[in-house]
Amino acid sequence: MLERIKQMMAEVEALKATSAEEAEALRVKYLSKKGDITALMNDFRSVPAELKKQVGMAINELKNRATERINELKASFASVDADTDDIDITRTAYPVELGTRHPLTIVRNEIVDIFSRLGFSLAEGPEVEDDWHVFSSMNFPDDHPARDMQDTFFVESHPDIILRTHTSSVQARIMERQQPPIRVICPGRVYRNEAISARAHCFFHQVEGLYIDKDVSFTDLKQVLLLFAKEMFGEDTQIRLRPSYFPFTEPSAEMDVSCTICGGKGCSMCKGSGWLEILGCGMVHPNVLEANGIDSTIYKGYAFGMGIERIANLKYQVKDLRLFSENDVRFLREFEAAN
Ligand code: PHE
Repeated sequence: MLERIKQMMAEVEALKATSAEEAEALRVKYLSKKGDITALMNDFRSVPAELKKQVGMAINELKNRATERINELKASFASVDADTDDIDITRTAYPVELGTRHPLTIVRNEIVDIFSRLGFSLAEGPEVEDDWHVFSSMNFPDDHPARDMQDTFFVESHPDIILRTHTSSVQARIMERQQPPIRVICPGRVYRNEAISARAHCFFHQVEGLYIDKDVSFTDLKQVLLLFAKEMFGEDTQIRLRPSYFPFTEPSAEMDVSCTICGGKGCSMCKGSGWLEILGCGMVHPNVLEANGIDSTIYKGYAFGMGIERIANLKYQVKDLRLFSENDVRFLREFEAAN
């Protein structure tokens, strides 16, 4: 009996079929009620007790293998059928789904567009930077808290190499290789070592601007920013400048725009004040000009910097900053119309 099982196993391994019908015939031949393997199982009763275990195992193995082989053969015809007969070539194609621009890209492009109409050109630079371009050339004292581990990501074992915390580093790179007049905007991603929450992230995006020439004044800065605010948020937008401090500008200011929701009357968005803070700005500190090889007795300049997420929040009222980097298509699709 063992000999018969072995022989049948060889047969099963060599099974072939050229159609689904042939495969079904094989199933009948081996596995149906009157099939060869079923017959073997019926003969099992007459096997002497001491051989039952060995023969039983061999028959089971044969049955399993035969079932597997025949199913394989059947499956191969099933897929061929699907490839050929079952496709309806007259059906309308699935619509092609186009992607949409990321809301931060939309806002970045809008900002870049406004300033390029004012004659600013675009500059980009490395995200992994050295201390000089991010801090020292920007007039940060050695003990300034922004250099602290709390704010800045350092590259391990290279304390001089950091992830830029602002795109002012790009302005430094422009100044060191180009004499005025300089009129650039520098968009890009920046990094700060902050706990991630709805209101803060360890990276975000900025656009910074720099204008250096003879006779540049604070009035020029104010006019450019007013024009920007009106273009970005609407003709009725007003601006307000509040004195502030940055190491790289003197005097420095922070700029608010009249609330984009209530227009200045006071609402929950502006916490009743009527104003929303959107950027930092000021006249370039003479130390910054000198550190970057520009004669501060001849040239003056202004600079400003804003967070793209912040502007996007004001335009689209996104409540949670994390949505910008999670890439949930349900969120991204909401900006389809703005593309
Ligand atoms: N670099 C500043 C920041 O990252 C923004 C800024 C740029 C402020 C230029 C003033 C002038 O917050």
